[in-house]
Amino acid sequence: MAQPNPANWRAADDYLAETLVGHDPALEAALGAQQEAGMPAIEVAPVSGKLLNLLVRISGARRVLEIGTLGGYSTIWMARAVGEAGRVVTIEAEPANGAVARASIDAAGVGERVEIRIGRAAEVLPSLEDDEPFDLVFIDADKESNTLYLDWAARLGHPGSVVVVDNIGRDGDIIDPASGDSKVVGTREGLEMLGRDPRFDATALQTVGAKGWDGVAIAVVV
Ligand code: DHB
Ligand code: MG
Repeated sequence: MAQPNPANWRAADDYLAETLVGHDPALEAALGAQQEAGMPAIEVAPVSGKLLNLLVRISGARRVLEIGTLGGYSTIWMARAVGEAGRVVTIEAEPANGAVARASIDAAGVGERVEIRIGRAAEVLPSLEDDEPFDLVFIDADKESNTLYLDWAARLGHPGSVVVVDNIGRDGDIIDPASGDSKVVGTREGLEMLGRDPRFDATALQTVGAKGWDGVAIAVVV
């Protein structure tokens, strides 16, 4: 049997994406535009984009909140899943990223369902308090703020809302108490909040694949 290593994790992820996700011109164009604009290639992998799409559909979510738009790749995956009457509100700190995402989301044909809010999420989130509650929240921004974002996810959600947190694996560093990496510390604090805070019931899965050794946490608001 092959020994697990990053090269065959990636090859297997490519196989899974080819077999189960397929090629998609609008999504591939979004990635091209993101790269062209010099943005980092830290979007979710295709298999994870499809997971988000499936979670929206399985949960019947109609209103989705995304924290961290980047180039709109995951936004498009979720916007397709909410249906014509659904809505995705996505928060992006960088105006230039938001402009690239806007164009890609519009080109994908789901622009009417997607509202991009430009600003630091910590400042934008309180402005959503008077909106209808969100059925699914995807947290994929600065990891240092994960506990803040989880608090808002509970406040802006309702019992039964789904919360997904990206990048919880961090190459296994989440169990290193000596890690001085603020992203590791923020990620671990978010996981511990999910375990301790009575507003959530959660689990997390480690993943290996195109993004190396990483993972995703999934919670329900109780
Ligand atoms: C980082 C952030 C992400 O959302 C991601 O998917 C991968 C890496 C980061 O900030 O390191
Ligand atoms: Mg991420």
